[in-house]
Amino acid sequence: MGMESKFVWMNGEMVPFEKATIHFLTPALHYGAAVFEGIRAYKTDKGPAVFRLRDHAERLIESAEIFGFRNLQFTPNDVVKAVKDVVRANGFGDCYVRPLLYLDGGGWNLNVDNGKASLAIAAWEWGNYLGEDALAKGIRANISSFTRHHPNIMLTKSKVAGNYVSSFLAKTESVRLGFEEAIMLDPQGYVAECTGENIFAVRRGKIYTPATAPILEGITRHSLFSIASDLGYRVKEQPISRDHLYAADEVFVCGTAAEVIGLSEIDFRKIGDGKTGPVTRSIQKVFHDAIRGRVEKFEHWCEYVD
Ligand SMILES: Cc1ncc(COP(=O)(O)O)c(C=O)c1O
Repeated sequence: MGMESKFVWMNGEMVPFEKATIHFLTPALHYGAAVFEGIRAYKTDKGPAVFRLRDHAERLIESAEIFGFRNLQFTPNDVVKAVKDVVRANGFGDCYVRPLLYLDGGGWNLNVDNGKASLAIAAWEWGNYLGEDALAKGIRANISSFTRHHPNIMLTKSKVAGNYVSSFLAKTESVRLGFEEAIMLDPQGYVAECTGENIFAVRRGKIYTPATAPILEGITRHSLFSIASDLGYRVKEQPISRDHLYAADEVFVCGTAAEVIGLSEIDFRKIGDGKTGPVTRSIQKVFHDAIRGRVEKFEHWCEYVD
């Protein structure tokens, strides 16, 4: 399964996939001066639906503004419409959608105000981000030797492309060590998040997750708060130490790409009985029903393409 599609939306035009290219001197390529979103659409009984599309569209524009773009020519409404158009034009049901708002010209003096923004949106059919067995068996993770961003160095609420160099460092190290994902600690030494997912720990029937200060406020994370509370679990935001994770009954991670995945092992320590635990499974089940429009209470999260 590749990343091919029929069309990529570029500044309002549907461009054939092979023509969706940018110039070598695009400043975004040299400095990571771009912001992006990761969105998924799913097949439902009412046709393809994009999960929490408006929240993603708003976060994209917010990311751009946090980064420093001013007077943008794109609004969240434009992004909502363009994402639906690109899913429809490609004839996809289940797919991943990648908008990128990037510095397309100017800005060589490292001043966003001297640059010009462009927006492009691609979509492709993408399976399980953390591997085929992840859902059933969970994955193995390590605590990264790389620290997550200090929020005063890189802005953690913004999906700035350049922020993800840190995720590349941690993920590459993790996979080379034989794990599947890296857990990153914040500059104070508490658990922050993974390279592309937020993290939760379950202990004695309660669910814990780090507060939002040093992390990306994940849209999946937010959805799981509602799902967990609907299932009768209390989710507490608090500082989490790495040994809190080692001692947890269950640990799970979540994100648009990964969805909801249990951790079977962290730093060679088995978590719980080493399988995806019952709390994680119950949340996973509702999440998977919700993204396909099968949970009435959460159907407002599904933005139908047609
Ligand atoms: C660093 C990081 N944390 C968490 C998440 C999860 O966010 P979301 O659920 O909005 O996809 C992502 C993915 O976008 C991410 O890149």
